[in-house]
Amino acid sequence: MRKPHYLMTDPAHFEVCYQINPWMDPSVWRADESACERAFAASAELRAAIEAMGAKVDMIPAEAGLPDLVFPANAATVLDGRALMARFAHPERRGEEAPFLKAFQALRDRGLLKEVAELPDGVVHEGAGDALWDKGRDLFFGGYGQRSTKEGLDAVADFFGKEVVALELATPHFYHLDTCMRPLDGGHILYYPPAFTDQALKTLRERVAPDMLIEADKADAEALCVNAVNLGETVVMAKAPPALKAKLEAKGYRLVEVDLSPFIMSGGAAFCMTLRLDVSSQPAPALAAAE
Ligand code: ARG
Repeated sequence: MRKPHYLMTDPAHFEVCYQINPWMDPSVWRADESACERAFAASAELRAAIEAMGAKVDMIPAEAGLPDLVFPANAATVLDGRALMARFAHPERRGEEAPFLKAFQALRDRGLLKEVAELPDGVVHEGAGDALWDKGRDLFFGGYGQRSTKEGLDAVADFFGKEVVALELATPHFYHLDTCMRPLDGGHILYYPPAFTDQALKTLRERVAPDMLIEADKADAEALCVNAVNLGETVVMAKAPPALKAKLEAKGYRLVEVDLSPFIMSGGAAFCMTLRLDVSSQPAPALAAAE
């Protein structure tokens, strides 16, 4: 069977030098002398945790002046070998569009993607961070209202021919859907209710049975633990409050924690530091047929 395949970005040029979300404060970053060194260690540790799950990780090269290139979940939305490249809301991140496009075209040339497409002109959508694939429900949950637009979600639905359940985000703190919601492989959804508008909560609760919803609390959300990588029963996330760990373990998940504090200073953690390339809407092949 083919290994699960993730993208990450070399953190060589990561820093916090502008502010486009409330987590970011360049003066705090500058005052933290070990932040750069810890970022290298954190990225390496995250990569090792993903490889330990049996997955393969490809690295996108770093580029000077593009610190947030370390968040490839914002590069594109990917499903069934087709990538829809992102367009950023903030000028600070628009420079990432060209290197991400180049990296994705190279992946296509290597046969790892079938198609690399761009959004219609002027449409803003920040990739997998605002389009979470839910395999069991055969749909995307899409975030809008902070970065991505409703039009962006329509473009995702059109391109992939899949339903996108639009959830409006209520606060600048939880500006991408992946900061406050994570569909897990067991069918559960980990989410932080205060990040959503009342209408979005109503929509979510209509779609997902109560016993499948796992609520994160303020401490969990502020530790950016909802922003997790999940493969089967393993969940890789930033250092978690013990209560969250217990909650997930009670549902059958195994937690792997990584100190991602330098990236949390930019408002990102495990999920958005990665992008899964082999997201599939097809049922997994039976084991006998898989080799
Ligand atoms: N500093 C980055 C930004 O504000 C962090 C992005 C994290 N990505 C994510 N999908 N949550 O754009």
